[in-house]
Amino acid sequence: MFDRISALTIEFHPITNQRMEIYSTVNSDPISLGVLASGSGSNLESIATAIHNGQLNAKIQVLIYNNPNAFVRERAERLGIPSVLLNHRDYKSREELDAAIIDVLREAKVDLVIMAGWMRVVTEVLIQAFPDRILNIHPSLLPSFPGIHAVKQALDYGVKIAGCTVHIVSLAVDRGPILLQAAVEVLPDDTEASLQKRIQVQEHLIYPKSIALHAQKLKV
Ligand code: GRF
Repeated sequence: MFDRISALTIEFHPITNQRMEIYSTVNSDPISLGVLASGSGSNLESIATAIHNGQLNAKIQVLIYNNPNAFVRERAERLGIPSVLLNHRDYKSREELDAAIIDVLREAKVDLVIMAGWMRVVTEVLIQAFPDRILNIHPSLLPSFPGIHAVKQALDYGVKIAGCTVHIVSLAVDRGPILLQAAVEVLPDDTEASLQKRIQVQEHLIYPKSIALHAQKLKV
């Protein structure tokens, strides 16, 4: 994992005694987060866990999800995170959905918008409302393999090193300045599922860290 985080301390978890990295932030107030997710929500949970463990000084104010059956809703409930369903099928255009998203995020007064498996293409409307403040995680070493089925694309291509990327969201899908990446070795008998699983382990490490890194830069 390559990063440029300026101040990072190591502590030990009070119960498990595991080594933990503590990500420093500029302000003593927690970074206020709004999370957008469409699926299982393991990244939401990893961010919530980093907050709970005292590694990341942040608060997840709201989860917005677009798929009524997404497992992420159950996770949010278990984690005590308020959630709002904005079903894309109820909106005539992407812009209208984004306008509804903005209303919820502004109401929750979020500093950063965290796309964690958000399977909708965002428009200029959302990007302009939170310039440089929307982050996304993608399961490849961008700029290789943008778009859907990134892990399968990487396997089909035959790369030996796969990985994941956290980047700032721009209009071009899976583009935008890169904050952190982690590399994962591709094993000879990897399947899409086995490789995806190891990539997700790294996603759960770099997303909380990227949030702290970016908040430091923006001084939020
Ligand atoms: C992650 O693999 C992420 O890279 C991609 O969507 C997936 C979301 O997983 N953008 P989860 O819902 O956080 O488990």
